[in-house]
Amino acid sequence: MTDPLRLGIAGLGTVGTGVVKIVQTHADMLAARTGRPVTISAVSARSRNKDRGVDLSGYAWEDDPVALAGRDDVDVLVELMGGTDGPARAATRAAIARGKHVVTANKAMLAVHGQGLAEEAEAAGVALRFEAAVAGGIPVVKALSESLSANRITRVMGVMNGTCNYILTRMEASGLPYGKVFKEAADLGYLEADPQLDVGGIDAGHKLALLASIAFGTQVDFDNVHLEGIDRITIEDITRAGDMGYRIKLLGVAQMSEARGLEQRMTPCLVPRKSPLGQLRNATNMVVIDGDSCGQIVLRGAGAGEGPTASAVMADVLDIARGLILPVFGQPARTLKAVPPAAASAPAAWYLRLSLLDKPGALARIATVLGDEGLSIDRMRQYGRHGEAAPVLIVTHKGTRDALDHAMAKFDATGVLSAAPVAIRIEEV
Ligand code: NAP
Ligand code: HSE
Repeated sequence: MTDPLRLGIAGLGTVGTGVVKIVQTHADMLAARTGRPVTISAVSARSRNKDRGVDLSGYAWEDDPVALAGRDDVDVLVELMGGTDGPARAATRAAIARGKHVVTANKAMLAVHGQGLAEEAEAAGVALRFEAAVAGGIPVVKALSESLSANRITRVMGVMNGTCNYILTRMEASGLPYGKVFKEAADLGYLEADPQLDVGGIDAGHKLALLASIAFGTQVDFDNVHLEGIDRITIEDITRAGDMGYRIKLLGVAQMSEARGLEQRMTPCLVPRKSPLGQLRNATNMVVIDGDSCGQIVLRGAGAGEGPTASAVMADVLDIARGLILPVFGQPARTLKAVPPAAASAPAAWYLRLSLLDKPGALARIATVLGDEGLSIDRMRQYGRHGEAAPVLIVTHKGTRDALDHAMAKFDATGVLSAAPVAIRIEEV
């Protein structure tokens, strides 16, 4: 048996304790699978005396994660503290500078500093791995950077924030409004310390930016992910969209073309109810990858939680134990292209929900505005009148976002709307 691979774990919260449990319970299996023992030398967290439900007595303690990263008996820093900068980045850089591998679940740090950290790790000849940072237990980083690496990827898409999917699913099932379900999610402990990371689409946007880099050979570009959260989604949107055969998802889409540049969106979209994405319930994640040779690959599973996330962390650790050191984003970091963001999103069908005054010619005026902007109506449904107005749903054929925005701006002047119109993109899946 060769030398053990010795871990230094910085962060002993949900994920960190999960990693400790796997190392402790599966020691023999891990050694058999990699040909060498995987051990823990030292750990670090803020509070030394907290009971974490795992036995840490055999490990050295470091108050300072940077000191942990530099220890002679640590081969791999396992960074599980979180945060874009601060101790997570400092410890990661210190580990790389000392020639140690790093495994992290920290999408925020990599979405912002991924290019620089990848260049530093590759120059030092060490691994910087982050399977757990995207969609928790789903092995999507490995799928894209290894299993599908012979494909030209045309699109990466998915539901990558379990909390948002839980909220949208629960709103539909209960008929409760967003505010009430948000509170439920908070009480269940689903929300990040800053809930805007979840419901504002930021956490999922970080994940999408990382996948886009691997898929398209581009530098991580989180600043140009178009973000819209779910906080404006109403129960009426959910119900009416359901009537037209759709479900609302916080959906990330990344696609690139030479002509248009890199498009990255994390926005509420409609998907067909019967599609795999439409069937995705509660806090589960799903990533859909389209490649020129493999066709469409669908990966589904737990996107968060102690076990699933620790499973992904340990998969990276085991690859390092086996000696697998690959470029961080699938190809050498210095060859990743800085590409311009797409000026406009790809054309799409649009769902419109209008509250129309019930008077002669009202619908005709709306149809004229859409027609003038080159938007053709595919399907339409009018409901019985509520007071002065009647809800009308329209699904258009494919058209550009520009055309839609122009039409929305002109609706007001028709004088036939009793409330602000709602438009949601329908994503082809
Ligand atoms: P967590 O439960 O909040 O745990 C964070 C840990 O980091 C705690 O043990 C904390 O110490 C420690 N810590 C924080 N600041 C520190 C500092 N300055 N020095 C030393 N230790 C420090 O977080 P988590 O949920 O495990 O998440 C960890 C990472 O995994 C984050 O990057 C997160 O985005 C990512 N992630 C989490 C999940 C998930 O399901 N939870 C899924 C995917 C990715 P104390 O315990 O003493 O306070
Ligand atoms: N807050 C995230 C989610 C989990 O709800 O999916 C960590 O990535």
